[in-house]
Amino acid sequence: MKTILFSRLKNLVLLTIASAVLWGCGASDKTVNLTAQQEQQVAARIAPAGHVSMAGQVAVMSSGDAASARDGGDIYATNCIACHSSGVAGAPILGDVAAWSARLEQGLETVYTNAINGIRGMPMRGTCMDCSDDEVKAAVDHILGNSK
Ligand code: HEC
Repeated sequence: MKTILFSRLKNLVLLTIASAVLWGCGASDKTVNLTAQQEQQVAARIAPAGHVSMAGQVAVMSSGDAASARDGGDIYATNCIACHSSGVAGAPILGDVAAWSARLEQGLETVYTNAINGIRGMPMRGTCMDCSDDEVKAAVDHILGNSK
């Protein structure tokens, strides 16, 4: 009686070990290495569909993941071009080397600050209210890069 019980127990232990080993192999076979992009896509797919804004929270428009962040050229084309391509209200025009070098005499940091805070006819953030400071600076860099 004792030996039967013992051999059953032994079988059970062996079976457990065997299935653990098999299960382990199976699991490691199914490991998939995702690229960073695929991981982002999965994260986007399983992200909750809605987001509840509580009172006092500031809603920030998101244009998706970091990979699709807007560059200076995009922001210029969306928000700045209306005034800075034609000189509306005396806006210095993109490509006007003399006008921009005169602006730069006050220092690049001041030019950035004026673009972010606005100055005279230049509206705050050039009307791009969901732009971060860095995005406004990137748009300024885009203008300056095409004006020298
Ligand atoms: C509604 C018209 C308008 C829009 C839109 C606009 N600007 Fe301007 N901007 C101006 C005007 C006008 C000035 C000149 C202000 C002055 O010096 O009197 C100016 C000046 C500037 C200057 C020079 C600041 C300085 O220190 O002399 C920068 C830089 C600038 N804009 C960047 C931008 C950027 C970047 C955007 C888009 C994100 C933008 N602007 C959108 C009208 C505009």
